[in-house]
Amino acid sequence: MSHPRCDQSPAWRALQTQYEQSGRRFDLREAFAAEPLRFEQWSLQAPEVFADLSKNRIDAATLALLVQLARDCGLESQREAMFNGEAINHTEGRAVLHTALRAPAGAGLHSDEVQASLARMLEFAEGVPARGFSDVVHIGIGGSDLGPAMVVQALQAYGRPGLKLHFVSNVDGHDLAPVLQGLDPAKTLFVIASKTFTTQETLANALAAKAWFLAAGGTDIAKHFVATSSNTRAAGEFGITTSFGFWDWVGGRYSLWSVIGLPIAIAVGAANFRALLAGAHGMDQHFRSAPLERNLPVLLGLLDLWYRNFHGFTSRSVAPYHQGLRRLPAYLQQLEMESNGKGVDREGRSLPYGTSPVVWGEAGTNGQHAYFQMLHQGTDVIPVEFIAVKHPNHGQLEGELAARLADQHCKLLANCLAQSQALMQGKTTAAALQEKAPTASASLDAETVARHRSFPGNRPSTTFVLDRLTPSSLGALIALYEHRVFVTGALWGINSFDQWGVELGKALCNSLLPRLTSGDATGLDGSTAGLLAHLRA
Ligand code: F6P
Repeated sequence: MSHPRCDQSPAWRALQTQYEQSGRRFDLREAFAAEPLRFEQWSLQAPEVFADLSKNRIDAATLALLVQLARDCGLESQREAMFNGEAINHTEGRAVLHTALRAPAGAGLHSDEVQASLARMLEFAEGVPARGFSDVVHIGIGGSDLGPAMVVQALQAYGRPGLKLHFVSNVDGHDLAPVLQGLDPAKTLFVIASKTFTTQETLANALAAKAWFLAAGGTDIAKHFVATSSNTRAAGEFGITTSFGFWDWVGGRYSLWSVIGLPIAIAVGAANFRALLAGAHGMDQHFRSAPLERNLPVLLGLLDLWYRNFHGFTSRSVAPYHQGLRRLPAYLQQLEMESNGKGVDREGRSLPYGTSPVVWGEAGTNGQHAYFQMLHQGTDVIPVEFIAVKHPNHGQLEGELAARLADQHCKLLANCLAQSQALMQGKTTAAALQEKAPTASASLDAETVARHRSFPGNRPSTTFVLDRLTPSSLGALIALYEHRVFVTGALWGINSFDQWGVELGKALCNSLLPRLTSGDATGLDGSTAGLLAHLRA
């Protein structure tokens, strides 16, 4: 069924007027002064994730129009189409059913197959230490790497003792080589993860790992190499006898819930993997059933559209204030930019409005000492998303170290709050004039120094709070992001589940590869031919 695109809805034109009349001049400081209950009204407890949206440039009238827009675009029926297994990835003729992977047994589509696959994977994962493995090298890229690598890092506190997980993705040998150094082939398990089992980087690393294994005296490929793939035939041709298959209705960047999550299950065990799934399922239910006005993924998606298409903000920064979540921005880049970085609608017509923003970020507080300068005083407005975790998990510590790390956690949280406060509050030149600036040059007049030291403020941010970083809360957080990406994709009228934009580079790489050896530059543009010659010289 085809649905109207956002710009075909009457609410779109009303939002344009709304933006011109009030949105453009919306001031967060004035909004808080005028609305004593703004925090209460614009914050929301979704499963496992508390969200404060109050520091965003939005009011009730704008939200009402955005919700109307969502209804006009058939967001609810588009959502049902996904959950019901319709082939919404229409350019590849595939359903999109990552939600079925985390539904409890008996619920959700394909339940029997899903549960059988899960049980087999978890049984294998549980037995990895008993089979004498101390190190697991996971080889995959994109969706077959980013999710598992991010989750394993985030859940380090839940790691099973005696097991080290290594992730190799880049075709650059500088990724694989240091990982292999110091490994004992007798105690190493390789997991080759590739949905298609045709990806250049993954196959190259897998072949190199196999060569290392054999050269280092390893003999039993069948024991030491397993695959997670929907192309188990190709995995078999590689010499792998233990393969964990999955289905074409699991998209690469949505696959950590499937057997692609094997390294997660190995790292944290079956119970924790099930808790990850359950957390995500809780968010699925919220997304599917909460009214649009109190539906967190929907609200986030609507805000994203408001910022991207009316305010013209082109990027969003993610700042997880938890060291374990430091790979989350990289994971979200693929999730959002590969899903919604599209220029045509579902019918193939060029879009007259912007789609995916640039998503980027770094763990707090590190980012504060790098690019936050630009967020506070730069010429672009970049909405920031803060993620705070109320209770830390520093492990079993005692004495002064425990006390110091508890204090550091307070510092971490204070920094997180301070940044969103500073972004919103800003500082006028008049206020800066009242302050002493001990490091300011004595040759500058006070007014000039104050202008350098002032902040525009009114910079929007959202803050998420998790009670603790657990398998369940992490599952919910990831599912929240997945559904928010779905919401904007649905309103923009695009297919969020294909990725044709990666094909051209792959094809050109295949044609350039032999030229690096032969030097043949026939038909190449001047720049590429020049670079080829320079690299070969
Ligand atoms: O290059 C893009 C992509 O196709 C991603 O969508 C995917 O996650 C990644 O490559 C890896 O693909 P595969 O799992 O088939 O190796």
